[in-house]
Amino acid sequence: MKKQPGWLKFIILSIGLFAITGITASQAASDSPTLYDRIGGEPVARAICEDIWTNHTINPIVNNRFSNSDPVYVKQMVFEIFAAATGGPVEYTGKDMLTTHAGMNISDMEFNAVVDDVLKALDMNNIGAAERGEVLAILWSVKDQIVNTKLTTKALAPATSRDVVQP
Ligand code: HEM
Repeated sequence: MKKQPGWLKFIILSIGLFAITGITASQAASDSPTLYDRIGGEPVARAICEDIWTNHTINPIVNNRFSNSDPVYVKQMVFEIFAAATGGPVEYTGKDMLTTHAGMNISDMEFNAVVDDVLKALDMNNIGAAERGEVLAILWSVKDQIVNTKLTTKALAPATSRDVVQP
């Protein structure tokens, strides 16, 4: 067999390595379980949503907000959005976050209270720290669509010299 020049061997070897590592990387990406799977799929996600609802009903900061709600409907919508946002094979059929919460004048404190209820529900279902952090990041990403920024705690910031009435 004819001996190949060194530079040709290098190119063939490089293409081969690229093909192998490329396939391995894409397989790894498609094989890696979603956050939804790592949490435990539908049974655990439904249990978490049940606990989120219970936590809301006993949380004095937000329970009034849900006093006229249909628990079956809200739990189903929260399950769907939770599943869809964590990579589950579920379609969210509810209203978008801005439309849903616009006009409710939701404050920073209420948003934090709801996040606390979700984190407590994750703890109640023994969800690990990594998954907990990923869910928190998802919740944080929709904050701007939910909170009325005119009601933030910025209103509680110390007065600036401009605001201080001089004697
Ligand atoms: C933290 C992120 C939040 C998410 C992902 C979320 C998600 C949802 C979803 C999926 C629905 C159902 C939408 C539909 O009717 O189609 C909903 C409804 C609602 N949310 Fe939120 N929400 C969040 C924060 C909050 C906060 C901070 C409050 C106020 C305390 C709040 C109060 C409500 C109320 C009162 C409803 C209407 C329930 C009903 O239909 O009776 N939400 N939310």
